[in-house]
Amino acid sequence: MSFLTLERVGKRYGHVAALEDVSFTTAAGGRTAIVGPSGSGKTTLLRIISGFEAPDAGGLVALDGKILAGPRVFAPAHRRDIGFVSQDGALFPHLTVADNIGFGLGRDIVGRSERIAQLMKQVELDAAMRDRRPHELSGGQQQRVALARALARKPKLMLLDEPFSALDTGLRDAMRRLVANALRAAGVTTILVTHDQSEALSFADQLVVLRAGRVAQAGAPRDLYLKPADPDTARFLGEAIIAPAEIEGGWATCFLGRAPADASCSGARLVMLRPEQIALTRNPPADAGAARAVVTEVEYGGGVSIMSLLIVRQMRIEGAGEKPPPVVQIKALSNDLPAVGETVGVSINGSAHIFSAP
Ligand SMILES: Nc1ncnc2c1ncn2[C@@H]1O[C@H](COP(=O)(O)OP(=O)(O)O)[C@@H](O)[C@H]1O
Ligand SMILES: [Mg+2]
Repeated sequence: MSFLTLERVGKRYGHVAALEDVSFTTAAGGRTAIVGPSGSGKTTLLRIISGFEAPDAGGLVALDGKILAGPRVFAPAHRRDIGFVSQDGALFPHLTVADNIGFGLGRDIVGRSERIAQLMKQVELDAAMRDRRPHELSGGQQQRVALARALARKPKLMLLDEPFSALDTGLRDAMRRLVANALRAAGVTTILVTHDQSEALSFADQLVVLRAGRVAQAGAPRDLYLKPADPDTARFLGEAIIAPAEIEGGWATCFLGRAPADASCSGARLVMLRPEQIALTRNPPADAGAARAVVTEVEYGGGVSIMSLLIVRQMRIEGAGEKPPPVVQIKALSNDLPAVGETVGVSINGSAHIFSAP
């Protein structure tokens, strides 16, 4: 059963179509990430879900069995049971942490103080911060106050609009985990908007890729990463090696080698490999038939390093029009890295993803 339903949601500003024909559903308790480049309509979509904007005629938004926006229906934002955390947190600068969090609770409710303390605990904010004002907090602490404030109203749905983008990398990862845990513990269905694909892949159980106001693809993160609908989506979700290939009998042959592929396809097609699928052989025997490369650059990265390979011997592909890239970047565990200048054998682990013909 879907919890949040969007059907044919569109939004035009003058002649700019910010959103067109957006449809997807989320399950109760689910975590959805909406990703897309800047200007692809992510914030507009959240504003429509939360009720700060109305969709154009024909669009429908329903939550928990109730239509929030649709033909002759528009529930205002404060009637929607939806929490919203924006990029900058938007805290009230003149209020203390406790009063920011308690803002939605009402001044006089019984147990207000205990409820605030409990919310602070939920987002791992030290009780000693209660009387501080926003300018006396770090960026990560401010975002936790914003989250606690949004959680205070016990929303059915939480919308997070790039809430970690102002934080630096280490803090960002920690905050993402903390927020995911706090929301899971509270059982709140969540939609996270981000332009950071790794954030989206790790946070969500459903990914919606927006491009120019339209849903380019939606599904489980793993499916989208390994089976993207088109090259743009493939590149948006991570590094991708995209090359022409010859498909036959359940195998794809491309310039880097052979790999299992969808057996229902055949002929000349475009395939994708992820850089971590490329395996290297040290000291390849001179007569081996496999593709071969010279390492031109090693970017040491701790556990995993990035290597640039100049392909010096390709597998031959019949009748393929497009040229494969001469240099590919791959990811490999750093344990046994070849040196710059070394010649290595190249092969493919796992299967090749075939793009549907355009
Ligand atoms: N209030 C508005 N008036 C006019 N154009 C807008 C308005 N809000 C958004 N847009 C336009 O809609 C498109 C999508 O914007 P937005 O939803 O903010 O994208 P994102 O959050 O993905 O960066 C952009 O082209 C933006 O300029
Ligand atoms: Mg935005």
